Amino acid sequence: MYKNRVVTHLSTKTLQKSLGYRHFEINSRLCYFKPASSKSEKTFAKEISYSLNQKEKSISPKFFYDIKGSAIFDEICELPEYYLTRTETELLKKIGNDLIQFISKDIRLVELGSGSAVKTRLLLDVLTSIQNKIEYFPIDISDILQESSQKLLEDYENLSITGIIDSYEGGLEFVEQYDDKPNLIAFLGSSFGNFTPELGFAFLHKISSIMKKNDLFFLGLDLVKDKKVLEKAYDDPKGITANFNLNVLSRINDELSADFDLSQFVHHAIYNEKKQRIEMYLRSLEKQTVEIKKADLLLDIEKDELIHTEHSHKYSIPQIENILRRAGFRLEKIWQDTNKPYALFLASKH
Ligand code: TRP
Repeated sequence: MYKNRVVTHLSTKTLQKSLGYRHFEINSRLCYFKPASSKSEKTFAKEISYSLNQKEKSISPKFFYDIKGSAIFDEICELPEYYLTRTETELLKKIGNDLIQFISKDIRLVELGSGSAVKTRLLLDVLTSIQNKIEYFPIDISDILQESSQKLLEDYENLSITGIIDSYEGGLEFVEQYDDKPNLIAFLGSSFGNFTPELGFAFLHKISSIMKKNDLFFLGLDLVKDKKVLEKAYDDPKGITANFNLNVLSRINDELSADFDLSQFVHHAIYNEKKQRIEMYLRSLEKQTVEIKKADLLLDIEKDELIHTEHSHKYSIPQIENILRRAGFRLEKIWQDTNKPYALFLASKH
């Protein structure tokens, strides 16, 4: 459906107008593109009002990552129980030399979810070893991007950063229209597992459809494993994961003038073996009514009612091979950790 589409590259001015972006030039090595602010504010109130008004209430996990949520998530990544970040980082360290063989001298790093600086740095190190000038285009919905970019620029003299503060889809379309340079599109941290299989497939298809012949896609994914190991990773004894989950309610309180009482909800995480996914909820301890003023909502919640917040699907390698192929990719290479099963997939456009 997307094949043979003619893409004309746009000037900065046109990008701003036609895609509804504002351009912020911080200095010669750092700029941002951000959609007009009213757009995202409306979406938050609208989406929350819709998803909490359903029979099975839910809050989209994309709202976890405000400044505070992103900071708590960084804490999760350091937890002994949360093996994902450590395993992926170790793998990235090991494969650097291997990866070089696949990437061209002028490729730029595009990262979906600017993620933990550590992983970005490992990829920038790989680029540094073969390029005089390196380019990094982080795409992230959260403003956290601005802080982490400053630090990267201090440490990498030859780096320039174009931050896109937007949804992944918005950011990908932006990149597609930007220019002809090859892109290494990285999607790490097992975030793909947070999509439903249907939306995940559509998303991969979107990525392959905006990719050019010389682009590469780099995917980091947690694999199926023992239920106990998984459940501990998503429900740690220190309660950091619980804080992370509950923080979305305090964000709704602050930004949408709501009155969620955080002491009346608890974090609940279970592994559904049949569906191969961790399911995360906020469980209401009491029957209660919550008002969300800016979403025009008076919400009745039953005792023990669950508000769904996140799924984290766990795949096997053959399952991912199959999904990537169907989504229009050609698999170039798989690297995996067999101790805490986790894999990195490198693919090109089919
Ligand atoms: N991409 C992460 C994952 O699926 C997101 C995540 C980790 C998460 N821990 C969480 C989301 C706890 C909500 C709550 O592993």
